[in-house]
Amino acid sequence: MARVGLGLAVGCAVVTCAIAAALVSRSVRRRWRWGQAVALVRELEVACDTPVGRLRQVVDAMAVEMHAGLASDGGSKLKMLLTFIDNLPDGTEEGTYYALDLGGTNFRVLRVQLGGKGSMILSHKVESQPIPQELMTGTSEELFTFIASILKRFVQSENDGFQQLPDDRKDLGFTFSFPVKQLSISSGVLIKWTKGFSIEDAVGKDIAQCLNEAMTKIGLNMRVAALVNDTVGTLALGHYNDEDTVAAVIIGTGTNACYLERTDAIIKCQGLLTNSGAMVVNMEWGNFWSSHLPRTSYDIALDDESPNRNEQGFEKMISGMYLGDIVRRVLYRMAEESDIFLDPAKNLSVPFILRTPLMANMHEDDSPDLTEVGRVLEEHLKISRVPLKVRRLVVRVCDIVTRRASRLAAAGIVGMLKKTGRDGSGGVASGRTRGKPRRTVVVVEGGLYIGYTMFKQYLNEAIGEILGDEVAPYVLLKVSEDGSGIGAALLAAVYSSNR
Ligand code: BGC
Repeated sequence: MARVGLGLAVGCAVVTCAIAAALVSRSVRRRWRWGQAVALVRELEVACDTPVGRLRQVVDAMAVEMHAGLASDGGSKLKMLLTFIDNLPDGTEEGTYYALDLGGTNFRVLRVQLGGKGSMILSHKVESQPIPQELMTGTSEELFTFIASILKRFVQSENDGFQQLPDDRKDLGFTFSFPVKQLSISSGVLIKWTKGFSIEDAVGKDIAQCLNEAMTKIGLNMRVAALVNDTVGTLALGHYNDEDTVAAVIIGTGTNACYLERTDAIIKCQGLLTNSGAMVVNMEWGNFWSSHLPRTSYDIALDDESPNRNEQGFEKMISGMYLGDIVRRVLYRMAEESDIFLDPAKNLSVPFILRTPLMANMHEDDSPDLTEVGRVLEEHLKISRVPLKVRRLVVRVCDIVTRRASRLAAAGIVGMLKKTGRDGSGGVASGRTRGKPRRTVVVVEGGLYIGYTMFKQYLNEAIGEILGDEVAPYVLLKVSEDGSGIGAALLAAVYSSNR
């Protein structure tokens, strides 16, 4: 009996020990795995770090590349495209002009009524709608017929108090936000698509002509008077409102900048330039690259899997098309290498499932238990029951990715100021008049800057850090809304054949 009792006791002890050992090892493994997730976030933080010293290296690299791109075609990854715009609107423009704005997630048609000197923009009307996904990868004829018919409907609906135009041909401003080699103000060929558009038969074609033909075909008596990039439209409206505006930046689905350059600095095309003194240059900075950019394994993988590998490197670290996907990639790796998510988190393997606006919502969730983070994870990624400490880690990932993006955009802006002698860095072109820096306005448009508070805050902070207290107060970043479209209508007015 005693033996049986002893045997039982030993048996129980063994089982208890085994259970205890299993529990200990599970909790050790849990802790190790949680530690692994935290380590991945720390590693990301280090890899994405952008101290002011590094930002200054990016500033210098941007200025150097700008010089190289202006010196010769192909001299830099920055295309530094001529726009032929040497005359920005100044408030004297008069009449009713239309514009089309194509280039991001939405497509817009606009009508702008200009009152001439003293009265400025009397009114404007905008209609916006998403581009059907299938048109982004179809044929150029389908795309241009679609936008021409939307425009026709819009023009025909003109019964809301706008002054009716005589039945002659109307001039149109066309904002086309992709890299275009301009042949004149009203014509230019598409170099390549960006931001997920891929209509192969349009590459190399004159985009204004494609639209003119589509308009003629559907009986719309309009002609493209100004074919412009969205940055250029934004600069035009910025300058119309404030003549100290020298540059415009877009940070939305894609990113880019344009600025006013002295014509004698545009070495590569001297034969084509007039003696006007300055011309707007479309930098196409989305394609900027420098070894000083803090690149991670996630950026490399995103680029490798993209349809435009080795292109738009700066854009892929900054713009709305990509930020959400960088975060998704990090979360996916965390899910694979640790057990922070109780659910299988299979959806994290789906490219672009985490759109940037959702990521911004998670980042800006200020509820005590991060309800919005929980909601996005559950509704969009099908990951439920995520504990608070894991939600916090998710927010940290969003913060790291957005902070890097906004600080790099800030460095890009200061690079432009440096190139034009407005960064206060000294020398003849220091941007100073009688010891004081010049007032410099940069207009910024795009959902990331306008709609994402943390992004804007980080960007503004970084500009201040790079420029320092003496110069920063002279550099104003102004938000522009609908500038890309309204600006194109203004430019149509400036360059109108009816003027
Ligand atoms: C395009 C630019 C455009 C920018 C912002 C980029 O992908 O290449 O032309 O200005 O997006 O829309």
